[in-house]
Amino acid sequence: MERHGSESYFVLGEGLLTESVGGRSRTLSRAVEAAVPPFRFSRMGPNGAGRQLGEPNRKKIGAAMTVGGGGAARMPAGFTYLGQFTDHDLTFDKTNVMLGQLVSPTELLQARSPSLDLDSLYGAGPTDPGSAQFYEADGVHLKMGRTLAAEGVAAKPGFDLPRGAGTTVAAKRKAIIPDPRNDENLVVAQTHLAFIRFHNRVVDTLPGSVPAASRFATAREIVTKHYQWMLRTDYLPRICQRSVVNSVFTSGRKAFEVGAAPTDVPTMPIEFSVAAFRLGHSMIRRAYNWNRIFDDGFGTLDLLFTFSAGSGDLGGGLRLPSSWIADFRRLYDFKSAGRADLAVPEGKFNRAMRIDTKLVRPLKTLPGFPADEANLALRNLTRARMVRLATGQQMATFLQGKGVTLTKLTRAQIRDGGNGAELDGLTQPQRAALLRDTPLWFYILREAELNGGKLTGVGARIVAETFHRAMEGSQVSIVRDPTWRPSLGPSNTTFRMVDLLLFAFQGKKALLNPLGN
Ligand code: HEM
Repeated sequence: MERHGSESYFVLGEGLLTESVGGRSRTLSRAVEAAVPPFRFSRMGPNGAGRQLGEPNRKKIGAAMTVGGGGAARMPAGFTYLGQFTDHDLTFDKTNVMLGQLVSPTELLQARSPSLDLDSLYGAGPTDPGSAQFYEADGVHLKMGRTLAAEGVAAKPGFDLPRGAGTTVAAKRKAIIPDPRNDENLVVAQTHLAFIRFHNRVVDTLPGSVPAASRFATAREIVTKHYQWMLRTDYLPRICQRSVVNSVFTSGRKAFEVGAAPTDVPTMPIEFSVAAFRLGHSMIRRAYNWNRIFDDGFGTLDLLFTFSAGSGDLGGGLRLPSSWIADFRRLYDFKSAGRADLAVPEGKFNRAMRIDTKLVRPLKTLPGFPADEANLALRNLTRARMVRLATGQQMATFLQGKGVTLTKLTRAQIRDGGNGAELDGLTQPQRAALLRDTPLWFYILREAELNGGKLTGVGARIVAETFHRAMEGSQVSIVRDPTWRPSLGPSNTTFRMVDLLLFAFQGKKALLNPLGN
């Protein structure tokens, strides 16, 4: 199974950094595969050789981070999984769906580079033989699936991911989408479905004057630019200090691929992938008030994984049961878009956990991993050691040297945090090592928890610059087209995730929450 997260990292200029066999599976012919570099990771800052914490220490930190709890946040919980969907878009390996002999070396290089092009939604496009399966017969609309009647709710077309045929149960359950990781849990799966609907609705509202031959490309460009606008103006300022995002997008990058030709193929810094963007792990809730039927915390994380085919078995059937269709009103705040009629009582609304050094308990024992490797916090810390990631202190010094204004965390701040992980279980030498050479992921989460649950300093800079570069280097790009403005939201400067959902689901309560109250 392809997992969310790489097993090995090919870092430009350094080669393959790995401790375990595996990594991405071969999808092209052997000859073509040999000619294409693996996914293009890079190192933004210094090498952290000699500064990695030992295993006993990492284990104690991992344990201290997964005791549950953590501060409350205001951020609607949908943004957690929008983050995961975006991570999959950034790290999508398009060679999975491309037919090697038909594509040029340049395309192959692009295919293994970070981008915010929604390749995870579109694959290589309807005319590519490997991706035609994701599209309706018209070659313009994306396929959707039908749920199964359950708990008194009828079967509903358009509320599940499209799923397979074939002879085996696994083949029938398999989501027919370019990136199977988007069927890893039900929240990211329903988010993917919302993007399918968004694309299809954009197609349906194109003016008749757009010729048939360019309807797909026109729709894709509109969708991708609105998605990028939403990430830049809605998602990013929710997770990162707004002034840092604005500074990067208006004045440019200071630390990462500075001066790169905009259309050069970008890389993905390991500081982002192995540390900063794993911030999402601290936003995950233990349980959700999922919908009318799985209410009051009955939408547990465990069940949300079961009701996907990537990690579960859809509850035993071949399609999603209708009783598990998302109630988007509980995941996003439609009042902010002037739609009080789509609000749910506060007690039913799901808010993300605060971005901090604490993860919910279920992440201490991830299913499908050997017991001693199942703690997600420990995995993140160990992955960093594997790639000899720079420490928080090294990155702070590095960024300051590039002209970034930031205040380094003091030892006391790293030790005490702000209602986050408590380090009492560490021995004195272990704590001293942690305060001197703080793993980047931990450092960034401490920064956030001392900043009201938003990335700041080192973390905000790494995330904002990586998004900026990935958007700049995308084939469709609002960074390279600065005069572009959204047309599908309430004004020509506003397009948020709620606007995307309202457009995708035609503003209708019956589509955003087909199960009713
Ligand atoms: C839904 C619950 C989630 C689970 C169970 C989960 C689990 C995992 C696991 C097991 C890994 C690989 C760890 C390793 O061995 O290195 C991983 C990697 C990662 N996760 Fe998550 N994750 C979740 C949600 C998220 C979210 C919401 C975000 C971001 C907003 C995120 C961002 C990342 C990133 C950036 C990586 C590294 C990707 C790469 O290697 O290319 N994850 N996650």
